[in-house]
Amino acid sequence: MRIDIITVLPELLKSPFEASILKRAIEADLVEVHFHNLRDYTTGNYKSIDDTQFGGGAGMVMSIEPIDKCISKLKEERNYDEVIYMTPDGETLNQGIANHISLKENIIILCGHYKGVDQRVRDLLITKEISIGDYVLSGGELGAAVLCDAVIRLIPGVLGNETSALTDSFQDNLLAPPIYTKPRNYKGLEVPEILLSGHAANIDKWREDQAYQRTKERRPDLLDK
Ligand code: ADE
Repeated sequence: MRIDIITVLPELLKSPFEASILKRAIEADLVEVHFHNLRDYTTGNYKSIDDTQFGGGAGMVMSIEPIDKCISKLKEERNYDEVIYMTPDGETLNQGIANHISLKENIIILCGHYKGVDQRVRDLLITKEISIGDYVLSGGELGAAVLCDAVIRLIPGVLGNETSALTDSFQDNLLAPPIYTKPRNYKGLEVPEILLSGHAANIDKWREDQAYQRTKERRPDLLDK
């Protein structure tokens, strides 16, 4: 998979890709991540990527020209399956969307800033709009990092144990069951007896029941899906 991220603040985005699982995925060539600074696609001495709104109103709007130039250049080099715009009014990210995107070959992610982008960018160039939740960030970069993390860890080979992404919360629309490690007793708090039984089928059944109970208590909306 190849991810091209278009941003005015590449330095804000880079560190998540320089540590831990994402770093290992890149080093193992399971994913390529490229950053494109929108200012490199501006013309003139004053490298402006934004302008005031037509019709008046507070806040600057990102202009179409540098974004179009950047996306067009990338599209000359390869085909893209999705051109994603990070925006609070997009579809809210969930595990299903992450699963869907993880199957793509090449994607572009555009990070918004200021008031957002000229509507014509969205009409002409964007194929998918994603929000990471009902709150407003100062730019799309942190949202893009969240999306990339959720997607990259699903690429086969990225997680050490191939099955572990399948047992995450939200796969099957269930939250994950409780988990325990040593010691067996900590200040009088015991590990559930069943997990020490060695009986694999009973343990699976217990985990399923716990996952269901936890989902019913905390996120009953997931059970309706
Ligand atoms: N940009 C600003 N707020 C955002 C959000 N909630 N999700 C994605 N991108 C954003």
